[in-house]
Amino acid sequence: MEITTSSDSIPSKMKAWVYSQHGKPVDVLKLNLDVNVPQLEADQVLIKVVAAGLNPVDFQRMLGMFIETDSPLPIVPGYDVAGVVVKVGSKVKIFKEGDEVYGNINEKGLDHPKRFGTSAEYTAAEEKLLALKPKNLSFVEAAAVPVVIGTAYEGLQKTGLSAGQSILVLGGAGGVGTMVIQLAKHVFGASKVAATSSSSKLELLRSLGADLAIDYTKDNFEDFPEKFDVVYDAVGQSERAVKAIKEGGRVVTIKPVGAVTPPAFRFILTSSGAMLEKLNPFLENGKVKPVIDPKGTFPFSQIPEALSYLQTGRVTGKIVIHPIP
Ligand SMILES: NC(=O)c1ccc[n+]([C@@H]2O[C@H](COP(=O)([O-])OP(=O)(O)OC[C@H]3O[C@@H](n4cnc5c(N)ncnc54)[C@H](OP(=O)(O)O)[C@@H]3O)[C@@H](O)[C@H]2O)c1
Repeated sequence: MEITTSSDSIPSKMKAWVYSQHGKPVDVLKLNLDVNVPQLEADQVLIKVVAAGLNPVDFQRMLGMFIETDSPLPIVPGYDVAGVVVKVGSKVKIFKEGDEVYGNINEKGLDHPKRFGTSAEYTAAEEKLLALKPKNLSFVEAAAVPVVIGTAYEGLQKTGLSAGQSILVLGGAGGVGTMVIQLAKHVFGASKVAATSSSSKLELLRSLGADLAIDYTKDNFEDFPEKFDVVYDAVGQSERAVKAIKEGGRVVTIKPVGAVTPPAFRFILTSSGAMLEKLNPFLENGKVKPVIDPKGTFPFSQIPEALSYLQTGRVTGKIVIHPIP
């Protein structure tokens, strides 16, 4: 693939998907051929987007679920990016033109995320949010990683999961769940990983490292006699999750809205390039792998359809946009 890396050839206008009112992706998201290429702050780099990963937060924001803390409209959606640095701000120290990078361009998931996201030909991000793309991953695979690996890692850290402990992952087949299973097993050294999904996805859970794959259409995990040190709730089932822990066990829940039953707690991701750098070796040695839905790579022209598919809540792993013109 030919990727432009000379700042001389950066256009002033670009193609981007934009919404100017809240609503469903197919109703409000419009392709705009004439959006200004983002201006750089001193600590930012301009990235030619090669692949953009989508996350539930993209359609949740679009629906207007976070209006109080969101940035003003119009908005170009997209948090996750993999691409090539084409220009650097005056105070950028680490990256240079031509570097292949990846990351989540929003440090705080819901606190005034950027108006110019990754569903565009170019996007700008602070260099502290980026890492060099693992060499063994394609741009599509890399774009599937940042938000979900960050959410999995930070959540597991906050539970204090340590080697030899057991964990139950609710929603094991989703973007975050597929990462939680792999990190719990291969990075945190959990002795037993259990995870829930519907029937057709149980084999995937096992292939990612789950020792016990629970079919939630047949069994209620909270009725099992076995209890866990930690439950990672990626579904929004904290009321049931707290019944599945040992005494003193911890439950982390990530669904951004809805009630949380103590002692379960919720957190919102804080992203960093340093965290990606720390986990890069696990991606490079293949212990942790991005999971992309079998129908999960959509061309740039089909971003509204991709978001609608994500909105079904049935996606396996991730949705990635590629190619981007
Ligand atoms: N707090 C944060 O910082 C943060 C960060 C990232 C994401 N999130 C939130 O976390 C949630 C999950 O995100 P995601 O990217 O993983 O979503 P996702 O990829 O869209 O999750 C889809 C998966 O959820 C599974 N699922 C649905 N209902 C289930 C149930 N009752 N039990 C078990 N699995 C179920 C589905 O499997 P089946 O088809 O088998 O049901 C599907 O594979 C979203 O609400 C998102 O907004 C929060």
